[in-house]
Amino acid sequence: MEMQAFPHGPLSGEARPPGDKSISHRALMLAALAVGESRIEGLLEGEDVLATARALGALGVELVRRGPGAWTVHGVGVSGLAEPEEVLDLGNAGTGARLLMGILAGHPFTSFLSGDASLRRRPMARVAEPLRAMGAEILARSGCRLPLAITGTNRLVPIVWRSPVASAQVKSAILLCGLHAPGETTVIEPLPSRDHTERMLAGMGAELRTAPAEGGVVAVTVVGQPELVPQSFTVPADPSSAAFPAVAAAARPGSRIRLAGVGLNPSRTGSYTTLAEMGARIAILDRHREGGEEVGTLEVEGGELAAVDVPAERAPAMIDEYPILFVAAALARGRSRFRGLAELRVKESDRLAAMAEGLRACGVRCGIEGDDLWVEGDGGPPAGGARIDARLDHRIAMSFLVLGGLAREGVRVEGAETIATSFPGFAELVNGLGARITTLAPDAAG
Ligand code: S3P
Repeated sequence: MEMQAFPHGPLSGEARPPGDKSISHRALMLAALAVGESRIEGLLEGEDVLATARALGALGVELVRRGPGAWTVHGVGVSGLAEPEEVLDLGNAGTGARLLMGILAGHPFTSFLSGDASLRRRPMARVAEPLRAMGAEILARSGCRLPLAITGTNRLVPIVWRSPVASAQVKSAILLCGLHAPGETTVIEPLPSRDHTERMLAGMGAELRTAPAEGGVVAVTVVGQPELVPQSFTVPADPSSAAFPAVAAAARPGSRIRLAGVGLNPSRTGSYTTLAEMGARIAILDRHREGGEEVGTLEVEGGELAAVDVPAERAPAMIDEYPILFVAAALARGRSRFRGLAELRVKESDRLAAMAEGLRACGVRCGIEGDDLWVEGDGGPPAGGARIDARLDHRIAMSFLVLGGLAREGVRVEGAETIATSFPGFAELVNGLGARITTLAPDAAG
């Protein structure tokens, strides 16, 4: 499917972005491991999360959709999943695949996991190695990529794992595996990544500890074999999805929008810190707690943006927002630098290469130096006018559609159906605020 974004004027109005993808995956999986019935409201019904729901169904969990975003999950208890008859297809979802591997490592049967062409390219060794150290057998394609087979065990050994990457997927896979092991399983990360798994597990009665480890980093420990108490989960709106309309409004003077119910977990809000450093006017209204997470309404006003230098230490807190922040930098005056972006190369696409190539095609000066990206703007709209391949990456697609709305000439995005993995209704939501995105008929797209 091809979409085109035409230049738009100032944005205005209020919208609620869809549910948080990270929390939605976890709500389904943790509800499946609880003893009894959990209810979820505000679940993201994007392709990624639906793939996780289907996989859990194939593992013997009963999931009932009661209405839009409202699901009931009948949990089978820790270690209660059943051998699946079919290959588990996680689609585009790295979170779905990696977290599920952690759970499957604690079940004494063999599961086969696959996904789309993007997921089949992504590295799984970062999860496979610790899970093997705990006792699971994993047989994968070259480069430890999907499809893979995982044979779990009910004789797991707990470990202390020092992860070389700051990754919530790695941390969560190990903690979820640790739930099935006797004793204490610990993960140490080089920088703290998002902590939704820890918050949700603690809310369900699991025993968790975080403690400083050497080098100023944090070690997270879970005590295995708990009985998880079923929950009523309310999923906040996704701050990573909110970032797209937020940048569209911040970079267009005269805009004023409100984005309601957005998650404000400090491990996720690095992009809003960065936008504020660029001079964007962002206020948080109605800040309150919902479930274990803080939420609020983001009010964004448009204005001039200045260049920014983003330190590598901020990467985990804005890892999914770099593509759209590069777009903000293209609209800003001066040379921005984003440091320490190695992890962007192993996302749904190589986001460093995809963004640099796409920005250049849109007339934006930028360059990759080692693991850094610099982007230069003159404070005015970039040329635009390009046709971009989304590369099976929702955030590449949405970033260039936002850029097209802010450029002198519109931008076309091929493969825009990938947006449905995380942000179903993206075009409708931003068009409701004043953007001009249309789906091109197949012959026009030709
Ligand atoms: C996620 C963690 C991040 C993020 C992804 C979702 C999660 O990945 O990019 O979109 O839900 O745990 P990494 O753990 O690979 O950094």
